[in-house]
This record gives sequence, structure tokens and C-alpha cells, in this order.
Amino acid sequence: MNLLDVKPLDLKYDEKTFLLFMDDTALDPSVRRLKDLHEVAYDKNFLNRAKENIPVYYIYRNVCREMDWHLFVPHKIRHDISLIPAFNIGKEFVKTLGHYHPIAEGKLTYPEVYEIVSGEAHYLLQKIEGSKVVDVVVVDAKEGDKVIIPPDYGHVTINPSERTLIMANLVSTQFNPIYQPMREMGGAAYYELKGHLFVKNERYFNTPQIRFCRPSTELRSLQGNSLYSLFLKNPGMFEYLNKPLRLEKSALMEPVNHGVGHIQVEDL
Ligand SMILES: [Fe+2]
Repeated sequence: MNLLDVKPLDLKYDEKTFLLFMDDTALDPSVRRLKDLHEVAYDKNFLNRAKENIPVYYIYRNVCREMDWHLFVPHKIRHDISLIPAFNIGKEFVKTLGHYHPIAEGKLTYPEVYEIVSGEAHYLLQKIEGSKVVDVVVVDAKEGDKVIIPPDYGHVTINPSERTLIMANLVSTQFNPIYQPMREMGGAAYYELKGHLFVKNERYFNTPQIRFCRPSTELRSLQGNSLYSLFLKNPGMFEYLNKPLRLEKSALMEPVNHGVGHIQVEDL
């Protein structure tokens, strides 16, 4: 059993079954299986040969102590934990299904905030206008980082490493994610293949180059504090999850100007 550092919660997970325990009680996950990713994955040859019932990732929703419900419920915010074991979907790194969020306020959609508890992630964010993708961002995030999915961006989380990616997130309870547009397009505008090669999804036209980013310095200053503990101390800090007009731009990701390490992009 492995301890998960999400203070003040007492969380452990079993690295063989990916079961999550809170106060030594097993929690019930939503499991995404290979068949769920069929439409959005890159390597169809692999999918046709693989066992479609293989579990790919695990989402534990409402991971919250009973004594804290009275804070979460009136603020309409939920705390989730996701486990994405290292896995290659054939040529492609394991990833989430990908979705958009509906409008929350004005013309802005609901944002969401993630924290890397363990492992690393590439958050692929994309903005659509009509049928056209007008911006694609990849945020490279490591353990302890916090990343806000900005209003108006769909998102896919990629585990580009050989370790299990474990994330916590806070999100509004007032909406359901919208999966259909990315399903219909065969995934997001780029796929990240093994070797950290990003290739374009040919179903999108005039796709812009990826803007590589890192988590904001402002959020980095919160390292060492879990999202959960920050919420308990000051729930108002996360009001933007239901009221995106209150989200400060300084909390969003920052561009990386000096290359992106081992990452390559096709067609550069
Ligand atoms: Fe989301």
C-alpha cells in the first residue's frame, strides 16, 4: 500500500489494483477502459488487437471527509482524485478521453484546477471557435504543480512518463463534461506519441502550432499545500470555479520561451 500526500486526508492506494482507500476504507472508482478510448486514440491497429476491457484509468469523485461536506456543498465544489497508470495505447502515451465544459458565466465556460500528487502530466488544452481549433497549449507539470484549465478550453491529460500519474482536482458540481465534440473529431488536435512526439490529428484543419507552457509562478508559490487544504483554509479562493469572471489571468499558465527539453513536434 502506498501513502498519498493529500493533507489532511488519510489516503493510500494499492499499486496493483489502483484501489484508493480513505481512512482504510476502499473508495469506489469510475473506471475508463480501452474500449472507452477507441474513438479518440491514435493507434487503431493496436486497439483492434488489444483486449478492450483493460482498465486504463481510475477517477474517484467526491474524495472528501464527512466533517468537511459542510464546506464543499454550499460552495458547489467537488474534490476528485484520478490515477492514470503508465501505459502505451500502442504508439501513443496513455491519456484521458478529453472533454469540454459548458458555459458558466457570461460567455465563459467553467474552469477547473488540478494538482499533481505524484508523477507528471502534459495537459493538452484547446480552444475551438466554430469548427476550428484556434489555440493549442501543452502545460508540462510535475509533482506539486497546480494547473488551471482556463475557461473556454477543452482538455486532455496525458501521462508521458513511466510512473503512475496521480492528480487531485477541484471542480464545480454544477455541470457535466461534454465528450461528444472530441469523440467526433477522433480526439484532440494533437496526439502525443512515445518518444514525446506530438503529431497533428488530420481531422482538424489549419491547426496552430502548440504553445508550450509551464504552471503559473503564482500557483507555484502554493507548493506544499494540497488543493484540499487550501480549500479548507479559504474556500473563497476557489470561487472562480463557479464564477470564471473572477479568475485572475496571473493564475494561468505561462509560456516557456527556451525550448521544451525532449519534446518534438511533427511538421516544425
Ligand atoms: Fe474537465
